[in-house]
Amino acid sequence: MGMWWIVAVAILAHTASAAVREYAWEVEYKFGWPDCKEGMVMAVNGQFPGPTIHALAGDTIVVHLTNKLATEGLVIHWHGIRQLGSPWADGASGVTQCAISPGETFTYNFTVDKPGTHFYHGHYGMQRSAGLYGSLIIDAAKGKKEPLRYDGEFNLLLSDWWHEDVLSQEIGLSSRPMRWIGEAQSILINGRGQFNCSLAAQFSSTSLPTCTFKEGDQCAPQRLHVEPNKTYRIRLASSTALASLNFAVQGHKLVVVEADGNYITPFTTDDIDIYSGETYSVLLTTDQDPSQNYYITAGVRGRKPNTPPALTVLNYVTVPSSQLPTSPPPETPRWNDFDRSKNFSKKIFAAMGSPSPPETFDERLILLNTQNLIDGFTKWAINNVSLTVPGTPYLGSVKYNLRTGFNRSSPPKDYPVDYDIMNPPQNRNTKQGNGIYVFPFNVTVDVILQNANGLNANASEIHPWHLHGHDFWVLDYGEGKFKPGVDEKTYNLKNPPLRNTVALYPYGWTALRFVTDNPGVWFFHCHIEPHLHMGMGVVFAEGLNRIGKVPDEALGCGLTKQFLMNRNNP
Ligand code: C2O
Ligand code: CU
Repeated sequence: MGMWWIVAVAILAHTASAAVREYAWEVEYKFGWPDCKEGMVMAVNGQFPGPTIHALAGDTIVVHLTNKLATEGLVIHWHGIRQLGSPWADGASGVTQCAISPGETFTYNFTVDKPGTHFYHGHYGMQRSAGLYGSLIIDAAKGKKEPLRYDGEFNLLLSDWWHEDVLSQEIGLSSRPMRWIGEAQSILINGRGQFNCSLAAQFSSTSLPTCTFKEGDQCAPQRLHVEPNKTYRIRLASSTALASLNFAVQGHKLVVVEADGNYITPFTTDDIDIYSGETYSVLLTTDQDPSQNYYITAGVRGRKPNTPPALTVLNYVTVPSSQLPTSPPPETPRWNDFDRSKNFSKKIFAAMGSPSPPETFDERLILLNTQNLIDGFTKWAINNVSLTVPGTPYLGSVKYNLRTGFNRSSPPKDYPVDYDIMNPPQNRNTKQGNGIYVFPFNVTVDVILQNANGLNANASEIHPWHLHGHDFWVLDYGEGKFKPGVDEKTYNLKNPPLRNTVALYPYGWTALRFVTDNPGVWFFHCHIEPHLHMGMGVVFAEGLNRIGKVPDEALGCGLTKQFLMNRNNP
């Protein structure tokens, strides 16, 4: 690999220079034109996507978040930030806090301990689908260096966009029979996409017209301006509600160096699959003909695409940025070439010097993912429980021992041995539940995600699973049913990547391991917004007797919140 890679991973701890970065944010709906068609977007201080937070490792981030929505609660989750010692600031409604009521302000306060590419997003109802997201980028602390060398950087936040508003999507999903949201109308890069037209219209086989926006329009794509013979870091994060994406830059190789805020062993690729909830950094060297511009594309994979790929342009400053490339954009690899997708996942290894996992596990969950019905309503279930988070956040219930806050018996830790994952469930019905998995402090937990067939024959989907409060090691991926006592033997215990999101492939399994070293209550769920909304998640609680002070603000609402706060600060 190139000289930009310095093997030692710097130890980045709090330094004397750590800063407090304080923001006051107001969230409201407004009209926007993300893909040139007017729609309702969620905006932070008037901006969509929300403002980018830039911080240095060791900094403290304080966000005073005011809910200006007329009729909905609000929370923001800091995706990828582990919230060491601040589980109450994780921003998962019903899990770590009450949703902030309209008109109220809630203050998040947490430290960011290491460099990495992250994002933030709404975590109440389906507000992430409604456009409540933004970037969160942590650079090395002052005086420290990341083990990467580059001349400039770009930040691309990817998302998908529907013209139907999210409230009506939500009604459809919870109707009987369920009305599916369908595929997105557009893919957005930094909140901009083009509907019903293409930058590459000249090459389009589907006869899409040329886009006619003017530069400066809200939907005009941002061009990436580069100088020849330099190296750029491109930060990618996917906040899609549904789409799995493939990202490529015409004619250029990408060197993947970071995944979910952790350094990986660099590898070179033509394109990169990115699932909802994942982030990557890639290095791109501008070593191509500087008299040309090049297409950058993000197209749909994993589901039959019905959405044109997002396009923008890598502009060599040696030519005008309005000059379009002369050859067609890179084609997105076939949507159902799952072997290709798996091969990509299997190329990701931790960087040398990364912490390695414990050799064995103390506890193991085998989590079967199924699509089911409850009274004819479509749901997703894990070990035959479809999650509904309770009105009282778990963190409050466990902290104050409120016995009735949720069902205290653990959900099943495994599924029946004779379950046939290759066919639709024999018993289509499931039940709702709000039980959680409770672990002692500092034990090693293995989770095996087990995929299965959905309600329709010959259909098993990709589910990107995301864990709050932790990075986990991805030990292995396999086909069919996980075989206890056999499949552990092929685990990668040498250099498994540390991640916070991992794909579960159709009819297969994914094994991951983490240590319960972060007292708190943590959501673990499919990052596809409608799946989560239909119950596809579980909750882990760990080290409960070690949870420190939880601000009353996190656990009360309205007057009770005021009362609690005044009682403590008379
Ligand atoms: Cu980005 Cu609980 O999710
Ligand atoms: Cu899913």
